Amino acid sequence: MQIKFNDKVNHIIKKIALKAERFGVKIYFVGGLVRDVLMGKTPLDIDILVEGNAINFVKSLDFVEIKSIHKDFGTVKTEISGVSIDFASTRIEEYPKSGCLPHVTKIGCDIKDDLIRRDFTINAIAARILPSLDYEIIDIFNGCDDISKGVLKVLHKNSYIDDPTRILRGLDFKLRFNFDFFDEDEKLIQEYLKNPDRDGLSTDRVILTLNKLFSSNERAMSAISEFSSCGYYKILFDEFLFNRENFENAIKLFNIKDIGSLCLKYILEPIEILPEFKSRLGIYKYFKNYSDIDLCVHYLKTNDNNTLIYYNELKNVKLYLKGSDLLNLGFNQGKIIGFILDKVLEAKLSKMPDLISFNDEIEFVKRTFKL
Ligand code: CTP
Repeated sequence: MQIKFNDKVNHIIKKIALKAERFGVKIYFVGGLVRDVLMGKTPLDIDILVEGNAINFVKSLDFVEIKSIHKDFGTVKTEISGVSIDFASTRIEEYPKSGCLPHVTKIGCDIKDDLIRRDFTINAIAARILPSLDYEIIDIFNGCDDISKGVLKVLHKNSYIDDPTRILRGLDFKLRFNFDFFDEDEKLIQEYLKNPDRDGLSTDRVILTLNKLFSSNERAMSAISEFSSCGYYKILFDEFLFNRENFENAIKLFNIKDIGSLCLKYILEPIEILPEFKSRLGIYKYFKNYSDIDLCVHYLKTNDNNTLIYYNELKNVKLYLKGSDLLNLGFNQGKIIGFILDKVLEAKLSKMPDLISFNDEIEFVKRTFKL
């Protein structure tokens, strides 16, 4: 396999590979980088897997600037001549409970044992880095074949139970690459979803995975549609209400551009219990700190028309008058100041036609309130 890095990166990789050869250490690219290269894409991040202990290996390289070390996982972030390169140790992991973050049971294992802990066959291909900058493919799970077939296949039948977020990762790859889950994987997923075990589910990992899934605006609508229709929401909840038509309609009503963030919030935020609004001022004060996405999510979840009233009629109303202006007019400090400001705001919210500028507000105060 050939990898089209630029000359600077090639030079760095060669230097690392020469050292590795000298020390008798085997180093690899693995995971997304190899998958992407095999799919004809240019790799973005550079991660090097060290068969053995990456921390010791990196410390023996005199041309590397160490940025941080994560001892428990045997990983090191570095910078070499301005290029960020992450190093990881080969490791064996165990999932004591479904969905939890794995425990590392061994650092510095055989490459095969490291590959077997991974999610999909397409992500479990290693490419050994040689000083000649030839890359020797190690593909024990036939990932190359699955790339050419466009198939997403886990390495063992407990994989989705160990880490149910892999279902969402799979959905991400499916939409990104136009791949399909392997038939057996569809069955394993539906089997898991019949009886999902959420007790140990790592919230951090769920959020990380959902962030990835909804990072693309173009794919967000397909992602949330499948999240709903395929029952993937059961990883997180028993029920999930989603109607694509309503969603698309709300996106137009609130003019939402960042559809990925909308989907993410729609999934993660609980339904709010609304107070009963007695006035437009009440609606204004309640939704004042809501972003357009928050309003849209709220509208979708509650069908509450007040969100639309706020968005269309109240959101842009501004009060120029400040408490200090009222003190300058001669009002005394105290509750009266807040009371008057609210009254002016209320009048503006009810669209009083002669209440536009700062001076209009001052005039309104002078004619409405006695000093
Ligand atoms: N991995 C895994 N299970 C997970 C997350 C990650 O087995 N829940 C493994 C996979 O082998 C994956 C590698 O860790 O290839 C790196 O994960 P990550 O950086 O999240 O994704 P990439 O596969 O590199 O894909 P991309 O960054 O393009 O989304």
